Amino acid sequence: MTTILDAQNLSKTYGEVAAVDHVSISVKEGALFGLLGPNGSGKTTMIKMLTGQVRPTGGSATVLGLDVTKDPVGVRDRVGIIPEQETPPSFLTSMEYLRFVGAVRKIPDIEEKADYWFDFLEFRDKRNVLCKDLSRGTRQKLMFAQAFIHEPALALIDEPLINFDPIMQDVVKEYLAGYVKNGRTLFLSTHILEVAEEICSEFAILHKGRLLHTGPVAELTGRGEHLPQFFLSLVRKGTHV
Ligand SMILES: Nc1ncnc2c1ncn2[C@@H]1O[C@H](COP(=O)(O)OP(=O)(O)OP(=O)(O)O)[C@@H](O)[C@H]1O
Ligand SMILES: [Mg+2]
Repeated sequence: MTTILDAQNLSKTYGEVAAVDHVSISVKEGALFGLLGPNGSGKTTMIKMLTGQVRPTGGSATVLGLDVTKDPVGVRDRVGIIPEQETPPSFLTSMEYLRFVGAVRKIPDIEEKADYWFDFLEFRDKRNVLCKDLSRGTRQKLMFAQAFIHEPALALIDEPLINFDPIMQDVVKEYLAGYVKNGRTLFLSTHILEVAEEICSEFAILHKGRLLHTGPVAELTGRGEHLPQFFLSLVRKGTHV
């Protein structure tokens, strides 16, 4: 099966801090890959490097066959992204923001596609409301819509479920599980380990910038283990692969 994302010894240091420290992971087409780890373990930095937003200080990575260091713009063009805690521009309405995304990404039929998302995530009533006046959850709905509206072959999404109520978490969880069924690939970071266990096919655990574990979820569940417990015991031990 085709490799969609491949990182080899990928590293990013900020002064003395090794935010990501020689991490190697590989993601195949059709995978739903979960990146897990405690606060400050390097998940967001990893996603930023893999989406051409932060330049690695060491190692290499290819995403959809493109080198993230040599062609960060090409990578950003092709993937869907939900950055961590990012909100849409305050001065645009929901619809204007999706039109803007449509123009930048050259998405045909943006009005119809936007309408689908307003209905699907149940925020049609906020279509013409300025983003500054949206609730946090509704802003997250809009960020979710902008990441998936062009149905990218690969989406990298940083804590996509945060700010969603339980009903919306369920809707989004089902959407993500279905998204990869057509050979598309997802790479997500999350602290919600129960959801990761339910929908992810593969996962990795980062700790202080280093890779503690990577492998299929079924490998754990097949031997009667659960991801939350596995995560806690591994992170508490803190031993690296
Ligand atoms: N721009 C930056 N300048 C300096 N240090 C940074 C910068 N960005 C991240 N770091 C540091 O890199 C480390 C990893 O941060 P990162 O945001 O990647 O963690 P995370 O796993 O996403 O955490 P969280 O679960 O809290 O979102 C932390 O020590 C953080 O303080
Ligand atoms: Mg983060």
